[in-house]
Amino acid sequence: MRVTELYLAMQGELRRVEEILEEEVASREPALQDASLYLLRAGGKRLRPLVVLVSGRFGRQGDGESLARAAAALEMIHMATLVHDDVIDRAETRRGRPTVKAAWGDQLALYTGDFLLARALELLSEVADRRLHEVTARAIAHMCRGELEQMHDLYRVEQPLLRYFRRIRQKTALLMAVSCLVGARVARADEAAVRALWRFGGHLGMAFQIVDDVLDFTGSEAVLGKPVASDLLQGNLTLPVLLAVREEALGRRLAERIRPGMTADEVAKVAKAVTACGAVERAKQVAHRYVERARRDLAPLPYEWGREAMEAVLGFVAARDR
Ligand code: IPE
Ligand code: IPE
Ligand code: MG
Ligand code: MG
Ligand code: MG
Repeated sequence: MRVTELYLAMQGELRRVEEILEEEVASREPALQDASLYLLRAGGKRLRPLVVLVSGRFGRQGDGESLARAAAALEMIHMATLVHDDVIDRAETRRGRPTVKAAWGDQLALYTGDFLLARALELLSEVADRRLHEVTARAIAHMCRGELEQMHDLYRVEQPLLRYFRRIRQKTALLMAVSCLVGARVARADEAAVRALWRFGGHLGMAFQIVDDVLDFTGSEAVLGKPVASDLLQGNLTLPVLLAVREEALGRRLAERIRPGMTADEVAKVAKAVTACGAVERAKQVAHRYVERARRDLAPLPYEWGREAMEAVLGFVAARDR
């Protein structure tokens, strides 16, 4: 199955998710509503809701409305993190448009993120399963930690690779795992399936963020809809850079160059060297290893369509350019 076929198969459910999202961002405060609707209507891949919905197919309960509402909640948590992330990363474009921060300023962006998060949690509280509230709250706290650890490690060329993997688990992978968990539990999947999907989501999320970091080197702003070549410029050393600085002679030269206040020209040179030495390619291979792990997580699940649907998501994440 291709991911386009999957989106097509889930069209009806995804449309319902969109309706819920539009309803839920309504507010008496026009600025909050406008900024939220603006980001919502800019599009996005809706990957987390897709993963919630597909995970729900592994369950025994076919309450589509509850599942769609939970899927919308996950997209809103994600949107909240995007709005805040663009403040922290001083990003000017997102989903092909000026960011909320660029259009309305940092202050409104902070409140819009908080507003989206609050609305998301309100929506998720409709699910009468305390465990899901706990896991989601914990994941959000981990996202904050991941982002803070990233700030702490800016420009630190000597940081252990383990720190990179830990922060991307916190900032991205956990929310993907939570998406799987929420979908599976809302649909009352059996415990073995819930556990397998949780692991799958974590590995999918790791691959997803590594590919995001690779696309910062190889992608195009026109296709991605957000800035490229920006991580290194901000001192955020992602897997390609961390692999490159481990190269014998080149590594030492790069380590001397990577420092606060690098000019755009210096950044471009470092990025070129990182790509030329094969580190971007090796980072892609690491992403593929996570894809393989995720594929293995699916193997014991006794539901062929669901496995194929998740395989399609994996195939997309591995090969995506947006
Ligand atoms: C971007 O997520 C943020 C990361 C976790 C890398 P997406 O690439 O899923 O963004 P949208 O929702 O499609 O815009
Ligand atoms: C994703 O990291 C962080 C979030 C969880 C929002 P990035 O900072 O790399 O995300 P993009 O590249 O701006 O989408
Ligand atoms: Mg960021
Ligand atoms: Mg960012
Ligand atoms: Mg990124």
